[in-house]
Amino acid sequence: MILAIETSCDDSAIALIGMDGTLIANEISSQIDFHEKYGGVVPEIASRQHSTTLPLMIRFIQQKYNVNFKDLKAIAVTYAPGLIGSLLVGVSYAKTLAWVHDVPLIPVDHLEGHLLAPFLDNPDLQFPYLGMIASGGHSHLVVAKGLGNYELLGKTIDDAAGEAFDKTAKMLGFKYPGGPIIDRIAAEYPSPDIKFPIPLQGKKTLNFSFSGLKTAVRNAAMERGVYKEKEKLISYDEFQAQSESDHKNNVRNIAASFQSIMNKIIYRRFDEALKKTGLKRIAITGGVAANDGIKKALGELAKKRKINFYHPTRKNCTDNAAMIANVALRYYIEGRNIDQDFLKLNASPRSPLSVMPLASVD
Ligand code: KG4
Ligand code: ZN
Repeated sequence: MILAIETSCDDSAIALIGMDGTLIANEISSQIDFHEKYGGVVPEIASRQHSTTLPLMIRFIQQKYNVNFKDLKAIAVTYAPGLIGSLLVGVSYAKTLAWVHDVPLIPVDHLEGHLLAPFLDNPDLQFPYLGMIASGGHSHLVVAKGLGNYELLGKTIDDAAGEAFDKTAKMLGFKYPGGPIIDRIAAEYPSPDIKFPIPLQGKKTLNFSFSGLKTAVRNAAMERGVYKEKEKLISYDEFQAQSESDHKNNVRNIAASFQSIMNKIIYRRFDEALKKTGLKRIAITGGVAANDGIKKALGELAKKRKINFYHPTRKNCTDNAAMIANVALRYYIEGRNIDQDFLKLNASPRSPLSVMPLASVD
């Protein structure tokens, strides 16, 4: 089995995968309670939490799953991209475990983890496919041709898709992470009527841009008197508990209108990329792939084009270590990326996939 560690941002995650691909353990320790009052992730708090949580999680996993670390074939770890302090804790801990158990280390790119995560829950998925990594830090539209063989068709030129959800939610007074809150509110408000602009419309590009949308949301919130700046941020449950009012309805309308434009933006990019590539499989991954509105839109696109649509389960969309274990196992089987000289491995805020140049889409 391979033990995988993921600490690129604010969640400490550990997974164990058998050499036949069976997931033995997939545990996540969320730090959300430590960060939400600040409206975002505080890097110093995140690394401190990882350093106290990882040893506890290892002991917990050994006991809960009754596993013997003598059976480990390798340790996998996310080495990039992400918060450097958080990554450093994971990499240092993984090196220590690899040293202690005398096994090699497999460094994994967090984005490759997300990109290949749909394999975890969809045994029929095969390369090549058109995948979108939509997370809090990235919005990459990628042709996944094979293991380690990727072509970048488009990426965000400003904010990431998850960032757009979080910023919109924050302007409406919601705690971090705002994506799941907007998702739930939109599902309960089927006829939103604010027409937000589609960014980069008419431009010959498969890139994304979400910062203009942020301004449009701010204007809509200000016009309706619901823009929040200094007030205490609230959760979905606290919002639901408020008595019904025009104010509450305006918040719902803005959140649902924003969700609706995000569905359209992502639907269109996939549609255009499919026209260019002729691919027969699409997948969305990363935290934003947990979003029901976006999954529904892509499901409709797949139906229209008679192609297959894949996405990970909700747990495997957001940051987790199963996706890191999945990538590591694939490389291990092919005898690639196995680092015997792992003491030299460094964490990095950027990875090859995160800075990959755009392929020509003409
Ligand atoms: O992949 P992820 O867990 O971490 C990064 O690598 O960034 O993604 C986190 C992002 C956050 O911006 C969060 O608001 C967003 O994913 N997210 C969602 C949903 N669940 C998480 N966005 C929209 N709808 C959701 N249901
Ligand atoms: Zn992620």
